[in-house]
Amino acid sequence: MTPSAPFSHADVAAEAGSTADPDTSSLSGTRPPASVGHGLSADDLLPESLLAFLGCSTPDAWLEEALLHPETLLIDHAQCEKKAASTAMSLLYRYVDQPLLLSKMAQLAREELLHFEQVVKLMEKRDVTYRHLSASRYAEGLRRHVRPNDPERLIDVLIVGALIEARSCERFARLIPCLDAELARFYRSLVKSEGRHFEDYLLLAREQTDAPLDDRIAFFVAREAELIRSPDAEFRFHSGVPA
Ligand SMILES: [Fe+2]
Ligand SMILES: [Fe+2]
Repeated sequence: MTPSAPFSHADVAAEAGSTADPDTSSLSGTRPPASVGHGLSADDLLPESLLAFLGCSTPDAWLEEALLHPETLLIDHAQCEKKAASTAMSLLYRYVDQPLLLSKMAQLAREELLHFEQVVKLMEKRDVTYRHLSASRYAEGLRRHVRPNDPERLIDVLIVGALIEARSCERFARLIPCLDAELARFYRSLVKSEGRHFEDYLLLAREQTDAPLDDRIAFFVAREAELIRSPDAEFRFHSGVPA
C-alpha cells in the first residue's frame, strides 16, 4: 500500500459500476472533475439547505491543492473529527441545564469520535503516519468573533459550529469525484452525517432566543466565506485559497 495513492479517478469508475483498477490513475496536478461518474455533481450530493447556508463554494484552487497533499488532508481531517467531538463535549460540560443540547451533543460527540476512528484506520491502512499538524487559521478566525457572555456566547458558538460542520460536508462532497472508491464511499457516508450536524447546531442556536438570528448568522456566514476565499499560506482541510 503506497501512501501516495489515497486519491485517484477510480471512484469515478466505481460510481459508474466499472471494475477499473483503482491504482492506475493518480489525479496529482490535474483539474478536479466537474461531476462524478454517474453524472451527479458535488452539488447534487449536498442538501439544498446546506448550499443555501454557506456563503460560497470551495474554490477549485483548494481542491487542486488537496489532491497534491492527500496525506496532510487525511491527517488534518482526523484532527477535525477529534476537535468536533471535543467541541461537543465542552458544550456538554458547560450547559447541563439544556436537555435538547445535551442529547444532540452527546450524539454528535459519539458520531465524531467514530469518524475519527474511521479516518485513523484508513490512515493506518494507507501507511499514512499520524503526525502533529498546526491548526489552520479557520476555526480561530471564526471563534474570535464569539461574544464573551451568555446567552450570546452560546448562540455564536453554535452558529460557528454549524458553519464548520456545513463546510466540512461541502468539502467532502467536492472531494468525492476525485477519490478512490474506498475513500469516496467513506466520504459519502460522512456527507450524510455532517449534513445533519449543521442543522442540529442551527436548531440549538435558534432555541436560545426568541429574537431573530438572521443578522448574526449572516455575519458569521460572511466571515466564513472570507476565510474560504482569501489567500492562505498553509494548506489544511479548512484552509483558504492556496497562496
Ligand atoms: Fe464528523
Ligand atoms: Fe460533524
